[in-house]
Amino acid sequence: MKALVYHGPGRKALEARPKPEIQAGGDAIVRMTKTTICGTDLHILKGDVATCAPGRILGHEGVGVIEAVGAGVTAFKPGDSVLISCITACGKCYFCRRVMYSHCTTGGWILGNAIDGTQAEFVRIPHAETTLNPNPAAAEEEALVMLSDILPTGFECGVLNGKVEPGSSVAIVGAGPIGLAALLTAQFYSPAQIIMIDLDDNRLGVARQFGATHTINSADGKAAEAVMALTGGRGVDTAIEAVGVPATFLICQDVIGPGGVIANVGVHGSKVDLHLERLWSRNISITTRLVDTVTTPMLLKTVQAGKIDPTRLITHHFTLDGILDAYETFGHAADTQALKVIITV
Ligand SMILES: NC(=O)c1ccc[n+]([C@@H]2O[C@H](COP(=O)([O-])OP(=O)(O)OC[C@H]3O[C@@H](n4cnc5c(N)ncnc54)[C@H](O)[C@@H]3O)[C@@H](O)[C@H]2O)c1
Ligand SMILES: [Zn+2]
Ligand SMILES: [Zn+2]
Repeated sequence: MKALVYHGPGRKALEARPKPEIQAGGDAIVRMTKTTICGTDLHILKGDVATCAPGRILGHEGVGVIEAVGAGVTAFKPGDSVLISCITACGKCYFCRRVMYSHCTTGGWILGNAIDGTQAEFVRIPHAETTLNPNPAAAEEEALVMLSDILPTGFECGVLNGKVEPGSSVAIVGAGPIGLAALLTAQFYSPAQIIMIDLDDNRLGVARQFGATHTINSADGKAAEAVMALTGGRGVDTAIEAVGVPATFLICQDVIGPGGVIANVGVHGSKVDLHLERLWSRNISITTRLVDTVTTPMLLKTVQAGKIDPTRLITHHFTLDGILDAYETFGHAADTQALKVIITV
């Protein structure tokens, strides 16, 4: 089968690989129909993810059709259409029982990282019953691809952890796919203000179309002043960090109002200053989270019901044969205005 293989920092190739086989009773083999590329795949290609060894097939998102199941799988059968969660969960270990699938002792984020992933014609999914979601016939495949990772990430790590409430004020720093997913799902709760902050005017324009009440380009270093002016000097109730660099976590600390929550979503690669000397008296909370994908069944229902339309995040289409072009396009998002690319297998 054809697969996109990581060969160490800066190196990848579309090449022929053996089709995966059932290795354990809980496995399923899925024939991929649609997949995508995540910013995390770009991090792997930079050499930032030590757990991902050369030779690994990349990808942790997508939809497909069950080809085969292990002896222990009763919830799915060959021919079933399924949505793959980026997080693998056994459903039985200490952390799964606490509904923290991201910390599953035999799962978590392993797909396209510690085991071969979804940017291929076929993929082996361990713990299939708790990792795959049935795809109801009515749901559009491309919309579902957005539910593998980015929608649950924006919602769980940003909106739920950030305690977005009706009438509240929200600042989202970072208007990439994750920040925009937080923007879409924050609107379940009808906050009064959603202020989107980024350096990229195109993405800020998209954010306005997606329901941001205000947008701020932070290139001038004055984003915090602008947020204070918009909130009557109080600061916001929720600040969602969706970039993963020190500058944006600092903006969150500068704009959070008394009693507010800073919900960190970004993956940080270097240390970040925490200004407790300014924050200690302000009754704030800071949360962190690796996406658990526990809200995926709920999000699927909102997509089916037309409450949100995640296909609005899709800007480009490719085939698996063109996946190297897809990486080029996705990797130069500032020039190509790419958000999410769909790869049809
Ligand atoms: N916690 C989790 O489970 C989880 C899961 C998936 C992704 N993530 C992380 O979420 C973050 C966002 O992901 P994404 O795919 O949307 O990334 P992305 O790179 O596509 O988007 C980041 C956005 O931040 C903007 N930005 C960069 N520097 C900035 C600055 N100094 N000030 C303001 N804006 C700035 C960029 O213009 C871009 O629009 C990443 O760190 C990613 O690794 C976390
Ligand atoms: Zn991802
Ligand atoms: Zn587990």
